[in-house]
Amino acid sequence: MEDHVKLISGSANIELSRKIVEYLGMELCDVKTGRFSDGEISVRINENIRGKDVFIIQPTNPPGDNLLELLIIIDACFRASASRITAVIPYYGYARQDRKDQPRVPITAKLVANLIETAGVSRVLALELHAAQIQGFFDVQVDNLFATPVLLEYIKGKNFKDLTVVSPDVGGIKMGRAFSKRMDAKLAIADKRRAKADTSEIMNIIGDVDGSDIVILDDIISTAGTITQAAEALRAAGAKRIIAAATHPVFSGEALERIEKSCIEEVVVTNSIPFKDGKKCGKIKVLDVSPLLGEAIRRIHTEESISMLFV
Ligand code: R5P
Repeated sequence: MEDHVKLISGSANIELSRKIVEYLGMELCDVKTGRFSDGEISVRINENIRGKDVFIIQPTNPPGDNLLELLIIIDACFRASASRITAVIPYYGYARQDRKDQPRVPITAKLVANLIETAGVSRVLALELHAAQIQGFFDVQVDNLFATPVLLEYIKGKNFKDLTVVSPDVGGIKMGRAFSKRMDAKLAIADKRRAKADTSEIMNIIGDVDGSDIVILDDIISTAGTITQAAEALRAAGAKRIIAAATHPVFSGEALERIEKSCIEEVVVTNSIPFKDGKKCGKIKVLDVSPLLGEAIRRIHTEESISMLFV
């Protein structure tokens, strides 16, 4: 594989990139990313990548420079005559702006897809896209992995007795149903309303959670308003132990303080986005998705099926 594949890391999540190359028994390609004195991004690939199968690992969480850096690295690879360029995007930023649900708003998830494609990407490997339909925003192949197997294994190890999986909104029901089936658990739903962006209100819990242990399951935790409010409503409805699990630890604003003060016992996330604020909140458990992404990269290169990674 080393002869034909080059693995490039952007600067957004170098630790994850290092773990992926370690899983694959390879080294990162020698690429220098930096800043010019005016703040513009500079990229230089210090190895020959002509004719290579190139994978660029870069989540596109804020700041916007992460996305811009990905685009610039893709362009550098294209101009260096890579034979195929795969953008490995462990977290696809702007995914939640995926439809025109109010007048005069953009569909930024589509705009981002256009930008990535225009930069010259041949295919995309994503992890837990906020909505599966985002795959269709691209006219190149998109593999959308699920972090569920990683989260499931950890949560199974907790040996909950009477477990209910709670989807904190209607959009998460499919994920919640699949998870509860595999945990042999019940499913409940929180009826969430958003009066405006970044504020949420849990109106009702649909389902019986009295006396149950709970896993609140979501794809993204941003302000943590959703999971902490759901936890309060669940506690009021008689839930016992409450943990939350989500793939992407965006953790914006007061998220960590909110989680720390909440009745949630533990918040399980993955390293799709780096988490560095362990001192602010001791309740966060970070699981490693590098074997999942590494194996998908290997299988994409060798043209094997990746469907076994979904189970
Ligand atoms: C929304 O549709 C997502 O699945 C998450 O529920 C949401 O992004 C969580 O946001 P916050 O943590 O800000 O409530």
